Amino acid sequence: MNNLRPVGIIGTGKYVPEKILTNSDLEKMVDTNDEWIVSRTGIKERHIAAPDQATSDLAYEAALKALESAGMTGSDLDLIIVATITPDSSFPSTACILQDKLGAKGAAAFDLSAACSGFVYGLATATSFIQSGMYNNALVIGADCLSRITDYTDRNTCVLFGDGAGAVVVGEVPEGRGFKAFDLGAEGAGGSLLQIEGGGSRLPASAETVENKKHYIYMNGREVFKFAVRVMGTATVEVLRKAGMDRTDVDLFVPHQANVRIIQSAMQRLELPEEKVVVNVDKYANTSAASIPLALVEAAEEGRMKAGDTVLMVGFGGGLTWGASVLVW
Ligand SMILES: CC(C)(COP(=O)(O)OP(=O)(O)OC[C@H]1O[C@@H](n2cnc3c(N)ncnc32)[C@H](O)[C@@H]1OP(=O)(O)O)[C@@H](O)C(=O)NCCC(=O)NCCS
Repeated sequence: MNNLRPVGIIGTGKYVPEKILTNSDLEKMVDTNDEWIVSRTGIKERHIAAPDQATSDLAYEAALKALESAGMTGSDLDLIIVATITPDSSFPSTACILQDKLGAKGAAAFDLSAACSGFVYGLATATSFIQSGMYNNALVIGADCLSRITDYTDRNTCVLFGDGAGAVVVGEVPEGRGFKAFDLGAEGAGGSLLQIEGGGSRLPASAETVENKKHYIYMNGREVFKFAVRVMGTATVEVLRKAGMDRTDVDLFVPHQANVRIIQSAMQRLELPEEKVVVNVDKYANTSAASIPLALVEAAEEGRMKAGDTVLMVGFGGGLTWGASVLVW
């Protein structure tokens, strides 16, 4: 990415719905307990969208804050990318709904499907468009309402997920700053380990698919865990190599927030001290595409990065996919 126009993050915003679902609330819904959830995942609570809130509503709130912090309005945008696996509906895209609500007339808008890796895929896409000169200011949002696709009678999955949105404005930054490398990847062969089988063109929604709960997330937790630990390590090493850096250059590590044990394994591999790692899975659980931007934006709001710091984001998820980036803040 040398000799290209420097592109980075110039505005940030986040939103989580008001309602909080705690581990003790879940104890009343399924056969689980706070001790199991905290010790196996690190999660204490998660936010759940109100019945009248859809993914675009969460995304909109985060987007307004990101635009405000960039000193922009919707009309300054020429590209909107929403990473999500829970669009308001199959189509129109959630990005098009936002384009209208934000008054981003003329901006290109599309959704991006890479599950929990979606935000980093979106950053790479927006950066490429801007570096090529095709666009100048892009809004990249990770937003998901996982509560809408979670089976609250299945203790294997329902304790893990939450709702939220994180947004950034991506644009030109001063020389020396911005994105230095991306590492995106996929292992489609593992797709069935984490999926929603029903409701698409293979298995269209029907009374039978609903009865068989095919519209909910299915996950093979143990296999996904192994994949996650492996690719968090390999993607991190690879993206640092591409950036011409090593682990000692990392000032802040922003991993996908799925399970604190997966984050700890990456910390050990990179020998990173706690103060260099963002962890908020305890408050929000796994919010899929929103997870990394929620962590990044929260860290920014807490003043954990200063200009020139090296920020490493890494995510993994359904697909199976992974995505990592090195950003000089
Ligand atoms: C799901 C996950 C937390 C399970 O943790 P684990 O230590 O692997 O637990 P196991 O799968 O070994 O299950 C242990 C037992 O706990 C039980 N269990 C599962 N969920 C439970 C819950 N909420 N409460 C209590 N017990 C539970 C299981 O039924 C199993 O019981 P069994 O041994 O009698 O069959 C873990 O595998 C994980 O985090 N996987 C990755 C998930 C992920 O990141 N997904 C999103 C990717 S983007």
